[in-house]
Amino acid sequence: MNMVEIITHKKLGMELRSDEIEAFVEAAAHGTAPDYQLAALLMAIRLNGMTAEETKNLAMAMAHSGDMADLRAIPGIKVDKHSTGGVGDTTTLILAPLVSACGVPVAKMSGRGLGHTGGTLDKLESIPGMSVSETEEQFIQQVNTEGIAVIGQTGTLAPADKTLYALRDVTSTVDSLPLIASSIMSKKLASGADAIVLDVKTGSGAIMQTLEGSLELAKAMVEIGTLAGKPVHALITGMEQPLGTHVGNSLEVKEAIDVLAGRTKGDLLEVSLLLGSHMLMLAGKARDEEDGKAQLSAALYSGAGLQKLRDMIRAQGGNAQVCDDLSLLPQAPIVRRITVGCSGVIQDMDTMALGMAAQAMGAGRVQKTDVIDPSVGYILSVRIGDTVEADTMLCEIHARTEEDALRAEASIRRAITIGDTPVKKPPLWYAVVTCDGVIYKEME
Ligand code: URA
Ligand code: CA
Repeated sequence: MNMVEIITHKKLGMELRSDEIEAFVEAAAHGTAPDYQLAALLMAIRLNGMTAEETKNLAMAMAHSGDMADLRAIPGIKVDKHSTGGVGDTTTLILAPLVSACGVPVAKMSGRGLGHTGGTLDKLESIPGMSVSETEEQFIQQVNTEGIAVIGQTGTLAPADKTLYALRDVTSTVDSLPLIASSIMSKKLASGADAIVLDVKTGSGAIMQTLEGSLELAKAMVEIGTLAGKPVHALITGMEQPLGTHVGNSLEVKEAIDVLAGRTKGDLLEVSLLLGSHMLMLAGKARDEEDGKAQLSAALYSGAGLQKLRDMIRAQGGNAQVCDDLSLLPQAPIVRRITVGCSGVIQDMDTMALGMAAQAMGAGRVQKTDVIDPSVGYILSVRIGDTVEADTMLCEIHARTEEDALRAEASIRRAITIGDTPVKKPPLWYAVVTCDGVIYKEME
């Protein structure tokens, strides 16, 4: 097939045939077309869009571009959960142990941090000794003995996405609905789960910042899952501010342990319970959200959830004592406490800038080859709608050097708007999308 012809068709706004999409994906997976042709087609897709049919064909072709994990050796319904990416978004480390403690096997393949967002694998690797690479056999065995495993992708799952994602990152073509939907769903379909819960973020820290865009993305992904015979629940949740208070790898592990130990409540726990309840519903373990949340809360308060996290860490070679002694996690040399400096009400946050502030300190990668510093980041003490005084604590910065701490302080101050108008707390979630349609949260 002629790549120039395929590029021309999309340039002219035509609908690509399935054989054209398959040829494009094949070329991306096997490196048989030069990057400049792949990139040209990506930009044509970014500018001219894709129909629902094209998007589905693209996701399917990408899912089948490499190995498909086979998890049938794990009894029961395996439910995966995936977030489109956020800041202080540590739900996996909380809900995976809780869902497992409720008797549902958790066989999860997670990703690394991307741009301003954190990644579960990087957070797990901040635990001393912890490994996130296993073979498919080891992975299946661990889920069968421990009830839980969270690792990186095994084998070569969706290799076309690997190539295309790297190209999108450097050609300004990440923000395309069909490209995001097919990228995420191809990996989810290839990783072998029976059902999928999607956490589609919306707001200033999300890949899709408007509610309309987030809803459209959710609908496209639910449609792809349905077509592949996998039930999908997509929840639209708020990313107007970091979800948890801790941002940075070992700091987020610490916050997840605090939540599982019953010491910390708040938005991070609420969203974890919401997403977890939909995992239990899809696994046939819970009747509805209320029932699911009750089961998960029971697992939290009995300590069964924290025990599952210990089991998983031990099974993956990590030091499970971190669950009982947080000082065993990597600690940054510089810790600075910063106050707000004026009185008023927290109006708004630029959450993407807050994510980039942590990335700049070394919590994330600017280039693919960068090595992460697990100890750095910050703890934010304010939330949108809070009334503050000059001496109210704004944040606690954990940095490698004094200069890093000062730079982070300036970025965090710039990202948070303080004013006089009273502001309502933003909703934690907005809507649930399934193959039956959209259910909106009742707004008061
Ligand atoms: N996460 C992905 O895996 N792919 C995208 O395109 C965006 C977010
Ligand atoms: Ca905002």
